[in-house]
Amino acid sequence: TLRAMTPQDMTGQQVMVTLGPTREQWDGVRFWSNPSSGVMGACFAVAAWLRGAQVHAVCGPATPWLPADITRHDVTGAAQMYQAAADLWPRMDTGIFTAAVADFSPEPFGAEKFKKSGTETLSIRFTPNTDILKTLGTAKRENQRIVGFAAETGNLHENAVGKLRRKNADMIVGNIVGTPESGFQSATNKVFVADKTGRTEEWPVQPKTEVAWRILDWLLQM
Ligand code: CTP
Ligand code: CA
Repeated sequence: TLRAMTPQDMTGQQVMVTLGPTREQWDGVRFWSNPSSGVMGACFAVAAWLRGAQVHAVCGPATPWLPADITRHDVTGAAQMYQAAADLWPRMDTGIFTAAVADFSPEPFGAEKFKKSGTETLSIRFTPNTDILKTLGTAKRENQRIVGFAAETGNLHENAVGKLRRKNADMIVGNIVGTPESGFQSATNKVFVADKTGRTEEWPVQPKTEVAWRILDWLLQM
């Protein structure tokens, strides 16, 4: 098997990965979401599995195919993703939070289709969703490890390190979204990595497969 060709340095580890977007339903036919492809998370799931870990993938909608040995938990909304991740977390050694979780959800209109007639402009109220990483990070046991992501459009270093501390993560992987070589729907990523010991590195553009593998190398050395 493929696993016979890779170092089995994560054998016995339980790893949870959150990936993809979330989809927040508004009316019977419409939702609020983002263009996350789930590819970065899929790369982590496969890398950890190849290295011998038992992997649980908490997948938002439209996330990629994963090898059958990876346990897949399909979810739609942010609340559902939080529930699935919180249920798994006590049994996990490592959590990798790549999902692009909606920070807010529209107050639901209902199961009917909203009709435009008689409406000039449309205002929708949004209410905040639970921060999955922050909540599970705060409840982290001494021997649990967390890798968080930071999607930024500016002030990458400050914002990423801020999230590392606020969410009690062990590592943070920051990237500038909205560029062709990085972020949403790309096969490559250009990342800034920081850990809680103060070590930081800026990496060149690399395939997401490579980024995942190297982050796991770093995590195992910590
Ligand atoms: N995250 C999460 N649950 C949320 C929001 C974010 O688990 N409800 C996780 C993401 O998976 C990522 C990290 O938190 O690992 C940072 O997400 P990001 O959107 O970059 O930061 P936020 O803390 O949501 O802040 P903002 O979007 O305002 O920059
Ligand atoms: Ca966010």
